[in-house]
Amino acid sequence: MSEFEYKGSLSAVTTDIPVTEPQRQYYFMGKVKEIVDEKTRDLGRPLTFHVTTFGCQMNARDSEKLRGILLKCGYTEKDDEDSDLVLYNTCTVRENADNKVFGRLGVLHGYKKKNKEMLIGLCGCMAQESPVIEKIRKSYPFVDMVFGTHNVYMLAEILYERLTEDKKIVDVRDKADQIVENLPLERKYSFKSGINIMFGCDNFCSYCIVPYVRGRERSREPEAIIDEIKRLVADGVIEVMLLGQNVNSYGKGLDEQISFADLLRRVNEIDGLKRIRFMTSHPKDLSDDLIDAMAECDKVCNHLHLPLQSGSDRILKDMNRHYTKEKYLTLVDKIRNRIPDIALTTDIIVGYPGETEGDFEETMDVVKRVQYDSAFTFIYSKRSGTPAARRDDQIPEEVIKDRFDRLLAEVRSDGEKKAGALTGQTLPVLVEEVNKQDKSLVTGRLTNNSVVHLQGDESLIGKIVDVRLEECKGFYYLGDRI
Ligand code: 5AD
Ligand code: SF4
Repeated sequence: MSEFEYKGSLSAVTTDIPVTEPQRQYYFMGKVKEIVDEKTRDLGRPLTFHVTTFGCQMNARDSEKLRGILLKCGYTEKDDEDSDLVLYNTCTVRENADNKVFGRLGVLHGYKKKNKEMLIGLCGCMAQESPVIEKIRKSYPFVDMVFGTHNVYMLAEILYERLTEDKKIVDVRDKADQIVENLPLERKYSFKSGINIMFGCDNFCSYCIVPYVRGRERSREPEAIIDEIKRLVADGVIEVMLLGQNVNSYGKGLDEQISFADLLRRVNEIDGLKRIRFMTSHPKDLSDDLIDAMAECDKVCNHLHLPLQSGSDRILKDMNRHYTKEKYLTLVDKIRNRIPDIALTTDIIVGYPGETEGDFEETMDVVKRVQYDSAFTFIYSKRSGTPAARRDDQIPEEVIKDRFDRLLAEVRSDGEKKAGALTGQTLPVLVEEVNKQDKSLVTGRLTNNSVVHLQGDESLIGKIVDVRLEECKGFYYLGDRI
C-alpha cells in the first residue's frame, strides 16, 4: 500500500461491519443511504450526483460501477456538474488529459462555493500518481475524496467516511488486493455493454504510464465473465465489448488453461448475444488461433484495433513492443487473408524520443501499405516515471507538429479512399441513438464499426436492422432501412 493510503478508523472501532466483499460495500451503501435520505428530507429535494469520465473504455466501465453504487446510496443522477456530488474519473495517459482535469476542477470550485452540500471526488488513473496527490493537497484543497484505480469498488465506504468524519479522504493503493464481483452497476446503454475480462498491464511499453497506474495484469475467471454476460443478455444487451489493456494475453495466471481465443469461442455460444467486440489487442501476442476464432465466431465483429505505435524497428525496440515492422505487416496480411473485409484501425505515436525523419518515414510506409480504416494519432507525451521520459533526445515541438500533420493527412486520405467501399450493399446496423443534429434520423454501426444514419425513431434503438447503404459522406453512410 502506498504512503497515501488513508487508514480509516471505522473498521477498528465497529464490529458489525462485514469483512468480506461485496457484502462490506453493500453494508456501506445502506449506511450512506440513511444519511442521504435524511439530507433529502431536511433539504426538501433529492441529493444529486454526476460522474464525469475521462479517457478510455475501461474508465467508462468503472464509471458505470461508480454510478451503480451512487444510485444504490440514494443519490439521483443529474446531467451536469452543478450537483451535490461530482466524481472525476480521470485519465493520465497523456499530459493534456491531466491538464484538462486541473482546469475543470476550478469550475467545480465555483459550484461548491454556492452549494455547501457539495462534495468533490477524484478517482481513476491520475489519482495513482504521487505528484498529482501532492498538487491536489496543496492547490485544490476543496477536493473531498481521492481514490485510485484499485479501489473503485470502495466508493460507498470512502463516501461514508467523508460524510461522517470532517476530514478529507485520500485512499490510494498501489496494487489490487482482489477482484470484487457483483457490485451494482448502472449501464449507459441498455443494449450494449463493456465487460472487463482483465485488469492492468505487464507490458511496460517504454512511453506508457498505464502499467504504473493500473497495476499488474489480472484476468477474471471465465465463469465470472460468462455469467456476467448472460445476466446482461437477460437484461437486454445484444453487444458486448470485452475490455483489457492487452486482451491477447487473457488467461495468464488463472488455474484453468484458457486463452483469449478460447474465451471468444465460449462467449460466442451465449444465446441471445448478437455482437462481440474487444479492445485492445497487442500485435506481439495475436495468435493464429485467435485469428481462426475471429473468423469462425459469427458474433465477433468485423473490426480489429491493432496498435502500431511506430513503423521503425529501432523505435519499436526502444518502445519495448516486441515486434518489427515486417512482423506487423505479416500479421496484417495473415488477418486480411483469413478475414478479407475486416476493418483495421490503429494507434500511432509521433515524436517518440530519438525519432528521426527516417524512423517517421517507416511509420508512414506502414500506414500507406496497411491502408487503415481509421487511426488514432498521438503526439508523444512525456510521462514521468517511464523510461522514455528519462531520455535526453526529446524531439522539438515544431518537428513533431510537422510529422503529425503529414501523418494525419495520410490517415485521412486513406480513410476517405476506403470509406465508400460498402456503398450499395445491404448490411445489418445496430441502432444506437437518435441523431443529435437531425431528430428524424437514427445513428447506428455496422459490425466493422462504420457509422450509419438512417430514417427512424427512438423505437429502433437497440435493434439490429438491415440497411441499404445509399451514400457515403466522408466518415459515415446514409442508408435506408429495408
Ligand atoms: N504519449 C502519447 N501517446 C501515448 N499512448 C500511450 N502512452 C502515450 C504517451 N506517453 C497512446 C498509445 C496507446 C494509446 C491508448 O495511447 O498509442 O495505444
Ligand atoms: Fe501501455 Fe503498452 Fe500496456 Fe498498452 S500494452 S497499456 S501501450 S504498456
